[in-house]
Amino acid sequence: MSDTFQFVEVGGSAPRVQQQWPSIIVPRSAIEAEIERLASIPLPATGRRASAISHPRNTHEVPAFAPGIDVTIHVVKPGESTPPMARSATAVDMCIRGSGVASIGPREFGVERFDVWNTPSMDPVSYRNTGQDLFVRMSYSNAPLLEKLEVHVTESSPKPVASNESAVAEGGPRARDQAESIDIGNEGAKLLGYEYLVDIDVVPSRPLLWPWAEVEKHMANVYNRDRSYTGRHLYLLYNPATERRMGTSHCFFATIAKYPPDKVDQPHRHTSAAINYYFEGHGKSAVEGQRMEWEAGDLHFSAPGWAVHNHGSREKGFCALTIQDHPLQIAMESLIWQETLKSPIVKLGSQRGFQTNIGEMLRAA
Ligand SMILES: [Fe+2]
Repeated sequence: MSDTFQFVEVGGSAPRVQQQWPSIIVPRSAIEAEIERLASIPLPATGRRASAISHPRNTHEVPAFAPGIDVTIHVVKPGESTPPMARSATAVDMCIRGSGVASIGPREFGVERFDVWNTPSMDPVSYRNTGQDLFVRMSYSNAPLLEKLEVHVTESSPKPVASNESAVAEGGPRARDQAESIDIGNEGAKLLGYEYLVDIDVVPSRPLLWPWAEVEKHMANVYNRDRSYTGRHLYLLYNPATERRMGTSHCFFATIAKYPPDKVDQPHRHTSAAINYYFEGHGKSAVEGQRMEWEAGDLHFSAPGWAVHNHGSREKGFCALTIQDHPLQIAMESLIWQETLKSPIVKLGSQRGFQTNIGEMLRAA
């Protein structure tokens, strides 16, 4: 590797053609076999039985299932617990088998099948299996993106995240309040002092739990919506720390869908990548013209960013967890969305979004 910089002439180059990773399905049987294999091996020295699913197009040494998203199967055997670990990645998890206790930062909660929760960055995390069966969770994180940026900070002996409250006496002044704020022109541009950079207004980031037993009670609302509904039959698992970016973690949204039989969505596309885990029923998809069928227990890289795709149920309907790097893309102002192939291409978050027929649906009900 050369340590001399070079100039790369780019003025005459066409934009690089984006190399979409194709949609793939990891079938239930392969996931179940990997869970059994993880349960059968001696406990690794790290104290973690874990296997990340790498997409065949991934060329980075760190596993990734979508270019910026990893999906890791974690198994904790009865009586085992994982040593605390903290890292700068954030995660969304779903328990897919058994039950256990999650200890995340200041919170500890029990989790069972189909519960979903988020893990804030730098919170010490450990899991213990308090049941009789294997405790298995599917964990989605933004680690591949941080690895690409060479800033995936991990700590294997983490201390609880110290608050910096003592730096400012209760109710006392912030240095920021004394820093300059100078208007430049009359359209909002300013000059701000350094203090604004190092004392940002805080939005607390907490681990939140969406227990399936509670979520499931509401799923009939979306399931029973008429098939002429032009939206999706799902709920967003909303974490208020993500504010207008509509996330479950700061990088991902998680949605839980419950589709009635024989409902097929309109083909559409978005720059956010989507991964579906189906946990009831079965269905079909078309992704960039590739037709696929899937069923409960399958994991599906269901929408490479900007790929035209649509999904539909068959006679049994389906339930799915979808993870999408939507809040990240909103923060980067790169969430480009086309709701149907006849709709305009819109930059969600900076331009008015799309309207469904929910008003008519509810008036007709
Ligand atoms: Fe989509």
